[in-house]
Amino acid sequence: MVRKTGNKVVVVGTGAVGISYAFAMLSQGQCDELVLIDLNKKKAKADVLDLAHGVLYAATPTQIAFGTYVDCADADIVCICAGVAQKPGETRLDLIDRNLKVFHTVVGEVMASGFDGIFLVATNPVDVLAYATWRFSGLPASRVIGSGTILDTARLCYYLGQEFGVAPVSIDAQMIGEHGDSVIAAWSTASIAGMPLKDLLAQNPSKSGRMDEIYHNVRDAAYSIIDAKGATCYGIAMGLAKISQALLHNQNIVLTVSTLLHGAYGHHDVYIGVPAVLNRNGVVRVIDKPLDAQEQAQFDQSAAILRDYQQKVLE
Ligand code: 2OP
Repeated sequence: MVRKTGNKVVVVGTGAVGISYAFAMLSQGQCDELVLIDLNKKKAKADVLDLAHGVLYAATPTQIAFGTYVDCADADIVCICAGVAQKPGETRLDLIDRNLKVFHTVVGEVMASGFDGIFLVATNPVDVLAYATWRFSGLPASRVIGSGTILDTARLCYYLGQEFGVAPVSIDAQMIGEHGDSVIAAWSTASIAGMPLKDLLAQNPSKSGRMDEIYHNVRDAAYSIIDAKGATCYGIAMGLAKISQALLHNQNIVLTVSTLLHGAYGHHDVYIGVPAVLNRNGVVRVIDKPLDAQEQAQFDQSAAILRDYQQKVLE
């Protein structure tokens, strides 16, 4: 057997999200080895070839292969993108029964390989499926991470950037809670170029009304994109690649991901989107930001919804 020499990432499920993530990882040079697993072998093998043909121009000469679950044995990250996606009119939570079945099989197969790395879960409803992956795998919760509100946060920073005329990276603002209809904008702690958003809005009251509009744009973004083109894929792929970068390169970056709470935000035993420090060990710390009373009440409600759905995992 050839010994692994660098970072290895396995993608399970190469639909629109999985393949976009693979492309992002390849083009950004985030790992040395990329393995794709999918039930549709013919398409996945063709995707592997298509990606491999671009390696000459990638940031690093990544090895790409079609694989099986055996390949998870020495993977650093297994990213699960498998399962059904929302159709127009469906919520993320509507997918739970169908995708729990998929996760029973996938997580079982990955663990049977001897996998001892980090699970990164992207399939919806992502918070509940991250919880399921933690329960099914028996791995420490620090090494089972859901993409959570990584994309909602990117959407928020995009719209705030447009509003205030700065790049998204100059904004420190997060979406937290469920990656779904009960998602929360943590307005009270947001800042733009280091200036508290609430001070900026006090100086410019005409912008205050725009915040509601931005919240709705963020919350409902997936619905309008799915209505128009059937799926979202590039935004989440960039978010997954960013999480992978933080993990593989031990960066201690704070990103909003779904993780198990042990008291932060007043909650226990629920997987939910919060800012967390990520490095080679997975989630090493949750940033317990002080919320205002309204945000805390919304967070409590979001956690209650997720806790209810988590019960399905135990049935
Ligand atoms: C998204 O927010 C559908 O969860 C996916 O784009």
